[in-house]
Amino acid sequence: MTEQPNLETIVSLCKRRGFVFQASEIYGGLAGFYDYGPLGVELVNKLKAEWWRATVTDNDNIFGVDGAIIQNPKLWEASGHVAGFNDPMVEDLVTHKRYRADHLAGTDSTDLKELAQLLKDKQSPDGNNLSEPRYFNMMMQTFIGPVHDSNSVAYLRPETAGSIFTNFNNVRETMRAKLPFGIAQIGKAFRNEISPRDFIFRVRELEQMEMQYFIKPDQQADVYESWRQFAWSFLVDKLGIKEENLQWHEHDEKERAHYAAAAHDVYFKFPQGFKELWGTHNRTDYDLTNHQNFSGKDLTYYDEDTKDKYIPYVIESSVGVGRMFMAVLVNAYHEEQVNGETRVVLKLKPELAPYRVAVSPLLKNKPELVAKARQVYENLKTEFGSVMWDDNGNIGKRYRRQDEIGTPYCVTVDFDSLSDDSVTVRDRDTTEQKRVKISELVSNL
Ligand code: GAP
Repeated sequence: MTEQPNLETIVSLCKRRGFVFQASEIYGGLAGFYDYGPLGVELVNKLKAEWWRATVTDNDNIFGVDGAIIQNPKLWEASGHVAGFNDPMVEDLVTHKRYRADHLAGTDSTDLKELAQLLKDKQSPDGNNLSEPRYFNMMMQTFIGPVHDSNSVAYLRPETAGSIFTNFNNVRETMRAKLPFGIAQIGKAFRNEISPRDFIFRVRELEQMEMQYFIKPDQQADVYESWRQFAWSFLVDKLGIKEENLQWHEHDEKERAHYAAAAHDVYFKFPQGFKELWGTHNRTDYDLTNHQNFSGKDLTYYDEDTKDKYIPYVIESSVGVGRMFMAVLVNAYHEEQVNGETRVVLKLKPELAPYRVAVSPLLKNKPELVAKARQVYENLKTEFGSVMWDDNGNIGKRYRRQDEIGTPYCVTVDFDSLSDDSVTVRDRDTTEQKRVKISELVSNL
């Protein structure tokens, strides 16, 4: 099967194989919140490690931080989120269910007048009249300390970028950084989405991988272009996403976030259609200027070469871990018919597969086979880390199970292994099997 799996297929695979579960499932779940299971967390960690390596480790001038989720609320006033982090909403006048007005109208625009016009003859999905569209602020609130009043209100961060801007001077000084340089962060963010939907695509608790690149204002065009290309190349080269599943989407003025002068998204062909996966934004000097004004602290940069003093511009690269995870699964999902049965294979890049290899004794009730297989398993674990021990069911079932979770190789120890010190290695994609000497196993895999 070359066409894409539908959403139910992906949700069902994720639940069946331990990639993603509904959060607090035994209590009926909670809309917009998900838990990653044993296989999911392996894949998530690998995606984050790939991104961190390509963004931070491979670049001498990009530094990592790990900021607090809750910051001084003034940060979010300065960033414009308290006043302007809004989505347009309409309400069903009978059921009082709330919907994203732009989604119901089928537009990217968030302009209230335009939305009112588009929705004037529309009804809610339940067939009732709708309210006028209005803005709804997506910041999640909490209170700090024992007294719950307006003085103790704080926010769960809506994006990780906030503490990158407030640490601009700290990182510049401690790392003796000169422009251009970047600060990167991976972490949770929270958004009170009006209608969380499409599984982990639009959630209320998400994880972001963000990088702000601080530059001289006159470098904005070139740097913007190179981070835009970085997103595309990373998806194709590091994650193996097929280019036919990707598209560019440029934001027009009505769609852009309040801080962005230009924005390009890479869209991925999710089961529900081409949608945003990764954004590159030109945030100009918007954030540092506002933080300087609100905090009263000098956030200008002194250029020793030109003797100029200015507020740096910022090019931002921002992608959601959950959306990347979903894109990788959808892209890798493959079904084929083998002897009248459907074989489901996740054709993940070997570096991303939750388990690099699975090891089995042919029969689990033969101690000599189990002992030999255990030795092989321990050796491979030392080498690759993520190796699965699988002795459940017959060998055919084990292969199917490993195919479905994307394990690139299955190693089976059989009776011949006891005398010839070789094992059978079966390839996930071709299903071909070959005998390999145990001593040559690591280099073969
Ligand atoms: N700092 C810029 C920023 O946050 P954004 O376009 O709002 O920009 C960046 O978000 C990325 O975070 C998106 O491209 C998407 O991958 C992910 N994202 C945003 N909202 C999300 C949500 N509600 N659920 C899952 N992922 C989300």
